[in-house]
Amino acid sequence: ASYADQTVTRGEGGETHQHAGGEVPVLTTQQGVPVADDQNSLRIGRRGPTALEDFHFREKIFHFDHERIPERVVHARGFGAHGFFEPYESLADITKADLFQRPGDKTPAFVRFSTVAGSKGSSDLARDVRGFAVKLYTQQGNWDLVGNNIPVFFIQDAIKFPDIIHAAKEEPDRGFPQAQTAHDNFWDFISLNPESMHMALWIMSDRTIPRSFRFMEGFGVHTFRLINAAGKSTFVKFHWKPKLGLQSVVWNEALKINGADPDFHRRDLWDAIQSGNFPEWELGLQLFDEVFAEQFAFDVLDATKIVPEEQVPVRRVGRLVLDRCVDNFFAETEQVAFCTQNIVPGIDFSNDPLLQGRNFSYLDTQLKRLGSPNFTYLPINAPKCPFHHFQQDGHMAFHNPKGRANYEPNSWGGAAGGPREAPDAGFTSYPSEEEGPKLRIRAETFADHYSQARQFYLSQAEIEQRHIAAAFTFELSKVETPAIRARMVAHLLNVDEVLAKAVAEGLRLKAMPAPAEPARPVDKSLKPSPALSIVGN
Ligand code: HEM
Repeated sequence: ASYADQTVTRGEGGETHQHAGGEVPVLTTQQGVPVADDQNSLRIGRRGPTALEDFHFREKIFHFDHERIPERVVHARGFGAHGFFEPYESLADITKADLFQRPGDKTPAFVRFSTVAGSKGSSDLARDVRGFAVKLYTQQGNWDLVGNNIPVFFIQDAIKFPDIIHAAKEEPDRGFPQAQTAHDNFWDFISLNPESMHMALWIMSDRTIPRSFRFMEGFGVHTFRLINAAGKSTFVKFHWKPKLGLQSVVWNEALKINGADPDFHRRDLWDAIQSGNFPEWELGLQLFDEVFAEQFAFDVLDATKIVPEEQVPVRRVGRLVLDRCVDNFFAETEQVAFCTQNIVPGIDFSNDPLLQGRNFSYLDTQLKRLGSPNFTYLPINAPKCPFHHFQQDGHMAFHNPKGRANYEPNSWGGAAGGPREAPDAGFTSYPSEEEGPKLRIRAETFADHYSQARQFYLSQAEIEQRHIAAAFTFELSKVETPAIRARMVAHLLNVDEVLAKAVAEGLRLKAMPAPAEPARPVDKSLKPSPALSIVGN
């Protein structure tokens, strides 16, 4: 008999055996031993117990037993694809980063989109932040731009990250809710941390539930530095602008889609790429120098603030195209390891205390998640330029240094001595001048928590404002503790009175609370910014 071009026989128990032959390879064990029968374990007698000596059975079950690795501590649910980045113009005047030197030069890229709070098996259309992580395999090493689809963040200092994530994920006693903002712990944290207010407005807005990844913006969030060949530094905010424009779904649609197809976003990306409909984003830069940065009313090191596009226009400098799905979800999308500290010559960090903390966290968690310091050799993580170093051993060391040299300086000349330093071409940190007493303190320039939240709200079209009020009402109506609801309304009074009243009415609050006391007066002169509204885009 033949089934899908393979010879098929039936065993004595009626089970199906498909045979190797022609182009069909022989099934082997991990040791390469050819397997005669993969349907039956080795028994004593026809109906007897299974024999311990069945090495094929034991190897197969052993490997299966160890298939799972820990899911990411955040951003567990994600979907990735391959593509490339190409600059439109040379940016040599502002950065020496190799990938920005020659227009049209293609740099391979891998992008993983994700949700933050839900587990690996949660639904795609949760009300949550989306990750937009880009790995660029440049000729001078890997640059990871690990961003989100929202340009600001909940907290200003990485030391609060475990707290916000604990509060956002399922509550520890009951183990729910999953991937939902609607619960007491989450809103308790937000209401006690006014610095979250700008981000809270964003996640209650239509920006939060994209129609698909293809219609979503990305942001590097922090202020970074670009460094040119002369050593000059320019501050930069990174943006990804979708060529298809910005589109979202409303909550009602999200609920139905989640019910009908919790894989809606990943299926959309897969289908688009497989049918040759390659999604594209333009890389946008907001560039400003330190003197200009001083003029802002906020601190450019504060990740809860945007740099308004009206003040610093976004310059579009290249495009990112996703044109290839992964061959294997686990090997690529699951094992990819993005890390904010992966930067290349021509790019540098700012002192943003959130970014500085992230630079520790990613590598640390990935050692746990991927199990070996050698995860950098996995094909999805390895640079695509030549790389040579003396790191050795550890679990899964299959690329140890060759020969005698595993340290330097050494006396073994030429190639036998192994790789050496490159003082001119190698990465050097921007020599910013830093001094001051060692303090555990937050600068007062971080203290305005409402002005940009208010500006964001006022920038929304009327229908978007109504959606924000409805989202706050719905989410806070799930909060059982009255004091938390009232505290949130007290904050909203500093954002917009109409919004606060709509939410208070929706929640049937008995009395309107007094506005929360702002640490800095709210700047009510900020003009709405059209760039922040989806309707306007
Ligand atoms: C994962 C973005 C803040 C720790 C991720 C991912 C993204 C992301 C996109 C998913 C990467 C992937 O697809 O594999 C951001 C942004 C932040 C932020 C934009 C703020 C602006 C933080 C902070 C910390 C942190 C403050 C810790 C101090 C982590 C960890 C992972 C992660 C541990 C899991 C990484 C892994 O297991 O591979 N983040 N994050 N993040 N983030 Fe963040």
